[in-house]
Order: sequence, then structure tokens, then C-alpha cells
Amino acid sequence: MPNQIKQKAIEEITQANDLKKLEEIYRTYIGRKGKLTEVLRSLKDLSEKERKEKGKIANQIKQEISQMIKDKEQKILSKKDVNDNREWIDITAPGIKIPQGHLHPITLVQRQVEDIFQSMGFSVLDGPEVETEYYNFDTLNVPKDHPARDMWDTFWLKDLNLLLRTHTSPMQARYMEKNNPPLRIIIPGRCFRYEATDSTHDVQFNQFEGLMVGENISVSNLKAIIEEFFKQFFNSSDIKVRLRPSYFPFVEPGFEVDIKRKDGDWLEIMGAGMVHPNVFKAAGYVKEWQGFAFGMGMDRLAMIKYQIDDIRLFYKMI
Ligand code: DAH
Repeated sequence: MPNQIKQKAIEEITQANDLKKLEEIYRTYIGRKGKLTEVLRSLKDLSEKERKEKGKIANQIKQEISQMIKDKEQKILSKKDVNDNREWIDITAPGIKIPQGHLHPITLVQRQVEDIFQSMGFSVLDGPEVETEYYNFDTLNVPKDHPARDMWDTFWLKDLNLLLRTHTSPMQARYMEKNNPPLRIIIPGRCFRYEATDSTHDVQFNQFEGLMVGENISVSNLKAIIEEFFKQFFNSSDIKVRLRPSYFPFVEPGFEVDIKRKDGDWLEIMGAGMVHPNVFKAAGYVKEWQGFAFGMGMDRLAMIKYQIDDIRLFYKMI
């Protein structure tokens, strides 16, 4: 009897070609209610001698069948792998993204600033980071005894009579010396100040200067351009801009510009004003032009836009 069972099992295992079928065979022969299990169970009614003999045979057959099932299972699985791979390559699936890092938040801000101002007819210029005292201060109507010239604010390059620019404003004079109005320019770039650092101040930061000169340019043009910039920058029409009187030597009148975004508080964001006649004079203009200028911190813009609460993070390796 166990031999017949074995024959039958071998036949079925040979024919089986999927795991489901194999499982069924396992259940039929050696599972808890399987045929061989039943044979083994029935041995208890036999004499001791017979039980030993038949038990040995039945156990051996059970082992053989279970080994055959295991072997067949391996065979099916290895075949399945090959087939599956062939079937499952989905050539339309998106590839695995290779991590490449990303642009620095200040780079993102700078590119956007440039795009927006270019769309309003401004040219983008670069200026030297190492400046002369003349361009950094004199041309901008900063008097010799103005506190901004104090060595506490400026990194001086020893013995060279040069300094690391404390703002992007010097490019106003450099550009106006060589170009006549009408003109619209922005100058993004890195600036440096010799001062203590905290979450909103660093010894280096990024600014962009704006300058528009022509005939009949007024404060309302300044306000309109700035308002348009912020609307595009924050991609929202719900932006309010206000000007508060302030003092910068290179403008008259000078303003502190605040913005207010939807549901937000007023934030001080930049300095601005109408270009001071002395700045035009230093640039060599004889005719009376009008224009506005402004200077904005790109670090601050990035901090607001990307909700970064410490300026020092921009220059840190994390
Ligand atoms: N240069 C100023 C600063 O670094 C910013 C500034 C204020 C620039 C007013 C301007 C201006 O052109 O009109 O703090």
C-alpha cells in the first residue's frame, strides 16, 4: 500500500508545474490528513513486529516524497525568477532617482530675482567683491567721518587701501560713470561686514542693488516696481508694501521698505530711496536726472521664503 501511494505521488509531483499544485500534493500525501500520515497512524493497531517493519517503510517513503516536493519547489521557483524578470521589466516605469544634491537656497533666490527684474527691463550686472574706499563710500556720499567707515564695520585689506565691499551699492557709481540714463540695473552679489554674528547677521551675506534712472522717475515708480517684484517673488497678489522714512547717505529721501504678506506681520525687508544728487555728481552726470535705488538682502529673502531661521546655516556644511 505505501508503495502504491509512493508511485502515485511521484507521478503527480512530476506533472506538477506550479507551487499551488505542489502544496495540494503535499496536503494529499503528507499533510496532517494526508494518505501517508493515515497509514502511519493506522500502524498502532498492528503487532509490534509488523509495526516496526511497515513503520520504517512508510517513514522512508514519507521522507522521499517530502524531499521530492522540496526539489520540485526549487525547480519551479528558479524558473519563475527568470520568467518573472522577463515579464516584469516595465519600460515605462520612471527610473530610480540618482541623488544629485540641489541648488543652494540663495542661488534659487538669486535666479528668481534676476528673472523677475529682467522681465521688467532691468539688466543684471556683476561687481567686484574687493572694492576701493572711493567706490564703496565716497561716490555714495558717505562722508569721511560717517560711522560706516569705522573699521568695526569693514574688512580692510591691510596695506592695500582696499576693502571687502560692505554693500552692492558701489556698482551704481561704477556703472553710471560709463553709461548714461535711461538705465535699469540690478547687481546681485556677496557682501562682507566686520561684525558679530547671530541668527540674522553674518560676516558675509548676499545683497542685490537696484537702480533705475531716467526722466520723471518718482517714488511711485519705486513702489510699483517693488510691489510687482514681491508679488512675483512670493507668487501672490496679496502683498502690501509700505515705505517708512529712513536715512541712507546715498539717497534723499530715504526709506525703509516693509512688506506684509497675507495674514502675516509687517517685515522690514530693504532700504531704498531717490538717488542723492551727490551720487549723480560723483558719477559725472551734469544734467539733472531722477532715479531710485534700493538694496535688499537675498539671505533674508531666502529665510522668509524657505522658512530658515538662522542665516548662519547658509554657510555651514551640515
Ligand atoms: N546699501 C545699503 C545697505 O547695505 C542698502 C541700501 C539702502 C541700498 C538704500 C540702496 C538704498 O540703494 O537706496 O544697507
